[in-house]
Amino acid sequence: MIERTLIKLYHILSTMNELFRMAVSPIENGVETQYTEIIVKPGCLSEVPEILRKPLRRYAIITDSIVARLYGYRLQQCFRKISLDAELLEFHEGEQRKSLDTVDNLVNQLGEYGYGKKDSTIIALGGGVVGDVAGLVARGYMRGIHYVQVPTTLLAQVDSSLGGKTAVNTSHGKNLFGVFYHPTMDLVDPETTLTLPERVYRSSLAEVVKYGAIDPHFRRELEIHLDSLLRKDIELVSRFVLESLIIKAFYIDKDPFDEGVRQILNFGHTIGHAVEFASDYNLTHGEAVAIGMNIEGRLAVANGNWTDREFDSLINLLKRVGLPQNIPDYLDRKKILEAVTQDKKREDDSIKFVIPSQSNPLAPVQIKMKKDDVRALI
Ligand SMILES: NC(=O)c1ccc[n+]([C@@H]2O[C@H](COP(=O)([O-])OP(=O)(O)OC[C@H]3O[C@@H](n4cnc5c(N)ncnc54)[C@H](O)[C@@H]3O)[C@@H](O)[C@H]2O)c1
Ligand SMILES: [Zn+2]
Repeated sequence: MIERTLIKLYHILSTMNELFRMAVSPIENGVETQYTEIIVKPGCLSEVPEILRKPLRRYAIITDSIVARLYGYRLQQCFRKISLDAELLEFHEGEQRKSLDTVDNLVNQLGEYGYGKKDSTIIALGGGVVGDVAGLVARGYMRGIHYVQVPTTLLAQVDSSLGGKTAVNTSHGKNLFGVFYHPTMDLVDPETTLTLPERVYRSSLAEVVKYGAIDPHFRRELEIHLDSLLRKDIELVSRFVLESLIIKAFYIDKDPFDEGVRQILNFGHTIGHAVEFASDYNLTHGEAVAIGMNIEGRLAVANGNWTDREFDSLINLLKRVGLPQNIPDYLDRKKILEAVTQDKKREDDSIKFVIPSQSNPLAPVQIKMKKDDVRALI
């Protein structure tokens, strides 16, 4: 089962008001590839310059237009107060800007400011969009520059800031252009979730519910504490952020490049990404994944992998969060189907769904379907 001892350790540390540090060290062919240190601590945003031990001289804070105003200038001042050079590089908020144009623009700004490979660090300050874009920029700029994640949406805190997946969308689909690149640190201040709009916060909870579909123990905890989580009780938010990251770290450690067991984390995403794309990103990532989990979960029941009870408990959680479960009528089914067949999880001429097994977290179930059968699902 997923490491419960780490979670216990967190509770001990959190009552001592200490930082929690955890290493993720993906191993490929026996060699440690990259290393991410995770820190979850309410209020730690203002301590970022101190926490980045042996700070480099120069920082480029990549962020979006909303987060810049809420936290970006504040973080910039924290660096400047201790005589470190920090510029804000911002782009307009929103999934529509998760594009190669934005990458191009940011790379040019880095060049204009003269950021160098050895003396500079990129800080990805924002939600999943900022994290995915900034990670890609960091991987490409001068063939790779140091970067850290400072996630400010619940979704980025529980999911996208860890694991090294970076990507932008193309006109053919979501996340079609990207690379793996792990940040050296994932620095989470759960208090930043207090300013999230309700819709963004509830959307983020879709990824938390996803961990519940993977780990029954986590699901029971979520069922008990969901109301407090919806009220943004920060101690509880911190705990769920950390427990989510522990589940994610467990899979990254086993399968850093998403070739096997880690694919369990894509539950709900084969349909979800296609629905998100077909909605022109009017549905949030979390809303689309909620719809995807309903459809893929039903598939698991039909295939005999889940019981009705297991499926119902997932749907109940989605309902309590207030997330959608069905594809809105106005969405073009043909566009969704085309996007599903463009998905990275396609193999030969079949479309692959990865469903968590309820009895063995290390044995996700793969269901392969032909395009015509997928048409019947949507
Ligand atoms: N790389 C990965 O492993 C991974 C995993 C899951 C999702 N993702 C990606 O993440 C993206 C979705 O991320 P998201 O839901 O964070 O969306 P987002 O980054 O677009 O943020 C949502 C909105 O919240 C605003 N915001 C951010 N922090 C805020 C704060 N503290 N207070 C107020 N407003 C704030 C943003 O400006 C934006 O308007 C998608 O592109 C998805 O594909 C990536
Ligand atoms: Zn996701």
